[in-house]
Amino acid sequence: YKGIIIIGEGMNFPVTRLRRLRKSPQIRDIFKETRLHKDNLIYPIFVKKGLKNGEKEEIPTMPDEFRYSVDDAVDYLKTLESKGLKSTIIFGMPLNNEKDEIGSPAFDKYGIVQETIRKLKKETNLVVISDVCLCQYTSHGHCGLVKNGEILNDESLEYLSKVALSHAEAGADIIAPSDMMDGRVLAIREILDENEYYNVAIMSYSAKYASSFYNPFREAVCSSPSFGDRKTYQMDPSNLKEAIRESELDIIEGADVLMVKPALAYLDVIKTLKLEFNLPLAAYNVSGEYSMLKSAIKEDYLTEDAIFESLLSIKRAGADLIITHFAKDIIDKI
Ligand code: PBG
Ligand code: ZN
Repeated sequence: YKGIIIIGEGMNFPVTRLRRLRKSPQIRDIFKETRLHKDNLIYPIFVKKGLKNGEKEEIPTMPDEFRYSVDDAVDYLKTLESKGLKSTIIFGMPLNNEKDEIGSPAFDKYGIVQETIRKLKKETNLVVISDVCLCQYTSHGHCGLVKNGEILNDESLEYLSKVALSHAEAGADIIAPSDMMDGRVLAIREILDENEYYNVAIMSYSAKYASSFYNPFREAVCSSPSFGDRKTYQMDPSNLKEAIRESELDIIEGADVLMVKPALAYLDVIKTLKLEFNLPLAAYNVSGEYSMLKSAIKEDYLTEDAIFESLLSIKRAGADLIITHFAKDIIDKI
């Protein structure tokens, strides 16, 4: 075996002692293979239309997370930026009575996400990523248009593109489509280029699974589908090869960054995509992963160390970037 000698002539067993390189914190530090770094963390934030400044709302399914007004979100992100945060991904909530069949508030020039992007670009140096989807904005809560109970693919692309363009116009650095319609990366790349947003990047949620770990998020932003589920567009958790095909397609269509979502139950997918492709890879440590750890820590079943260990496993599996609500908890500890 490479580098392992069990018994040597005239030597005492065991000759190879791996504990030699673990004997002090300093020696462990110099041999660390993987490290978490602030630069690689992306913090997701929820902005809600109609909230007054100073009246952030608690999110019952996500301890220590809140819905913010635009001004409060920007203030909070400035605090995180001063601690070393480099990037955020924005999720918006329109007024309930604005929601419609086609998700109009998602592509409103003065929509909640567009306003937040403009203010962030003006007042911070954060890399601004915008989630592109329709589910928070449609009356039926699906990520695309619906007809006779079916989630339409091609018809949805036009609206997703409008959303992406409106985010680019507001100043987003990176557009992140999370809808899982076929062909959306190409449709978005086309509309961005037609409007000369050549330098706006696309981070595609390329392998997004139909996961039960999204429940706290859906409660947080009121985006649960009013009928059925998302299994006709999001991926089956059983599938790995399909994640390769999804990612291949997105690369061909023009994606700049790939993503695996969720992260912890899908570390094999992260590793596979990292080995298979040369694109930067993001992993989304989703709401359910956040809430299960967070609540266990609040109950004293676990310590905060579990956060570092979990995020480290995502990095070790091959993720370059981690989107995580824990960014706020650990930014000044790494
Ligand atoms: C919506 C969207 C979801 C998440 C991000 N964008 C949920 C869903 O697909 O229902 C999940 C985020 C999380 O759980 O943290 N397209
Ligand atoms: Zn959606």
